[in-house]
Amino acid sequence: MTNKVGDFAGKRVLVTGGTKGIGRAVVQRLRDGGAKVCTTARAAPAQSQDGVHFIAADISMMDGTALVADTVLRHLGGLDILVNSVGGASAPGGGYAALTDDDWQRALNANLLASVRLDRAFLPGMIAQGSGVIVHVSSIQRRLPLFDATLAYAAAKAALSTYSKGLSNEVGPKGVRVTSVAPGFTETDAASALIDRLAAASGTNNSQARLDLMKSLGGIPIGRPARPEEVADLIAFVASERAGAIHGTEYVIDGGTVPTI
Ligand SMILES: NC(=O)c1ccc[n+]([C@@H]2O[C@H](COP(=O)([O-])OP(=O)(O)OC[C@H]3O[C@@H](n4cnc5c(N)ncnc54)[C@H](OP(=O)(O)O)[C@@H]3O)[C@@H](O)[C@H]2O)c1
Repeated sequence: MTNKVGDFAGKRVLVTGGTKGIGRAVVQRLRDGGAKVCTTARAAPAQSQDGVHFIAADISMMDGTALVADTVLRHLGGLDILVNSVGGASAPGGGYAALTDDDWQRALNANLLASVRLDRAFLPGMIAQGSGVIVHVSSIQRRLPLFDATLAYAAAKAALSTYSKGLSNEVGPKGVRVTSVAPGFTETDAASALIDRLAAASGTNNSQARLDLMKSLGGIPIGRPARPEEVADLIAFVASERAGAIHGTEYVIDGGTVPTI
């Protein structure tokens, strides 16, 4: 599945959340394939990434997505590939009763509306050029929702997957491919932060919380979480020209976690 160096030569790309975790691995993958890459996060990366244009913005806010869209269009003159990787859960443990309206709104802003707004900003250009690829990073929690700390997140990802499918029906005939990638537990900075919060909420240590998280998913048949680079390889494939007939579908990468077909 690995793309060869040069597979993305000259492609104009935006990867959101490209300073950590899955997003950072995608940035490296596409840049190494020859793409011109912009990325965004709230904080600048500790080390700047060679050949990557960084835009500081909070894309869970409307003015953040507007700033990113303007800057990318000025810098690249258009866009060929948009990878919406920003997302995550920041709510406290404790189930439904611990979730305030603000927690719900934050989950929807980061996991659904950031993608909706960026897609809306870049789609007119993609439709005008008759080509483009949009990838939404969803989660297996959209089908396997957990309730401790991630209920709002799971519901927001379900909305993202449904939105992604509907959008693909609309813009596919206009030359824009839309797909979704749903990772399971992946060893990223965000996953470590979630484990810290679960350990604090249940009064255990981190390795116990990590095992409990795997158990709450029903176990991972391959015996380990995914690595960010493995998820990035899948995203790079669906974004590449070799995946030209892949459209409107969601690809799960979870080591077999979801037990149903
Ligand atoms: N890790 C998993 O187990 C897992 C499982 C299923 C799905 N996913 C999905 O995969 C995607 C990436 O997750 P990850 O685990 O790689 O996350 P991560 O390690 O926390 O990285 C998130 C990236 O997004 C940026 N970011 C977060 N909020 C932002 C905002 N409001 N505006 C702009 N940038 C923002 C972060 O930088 P700043 O903090 O500086 O803004 C960082 O670069 C998410 O959509 C997540 O839901 C992850």
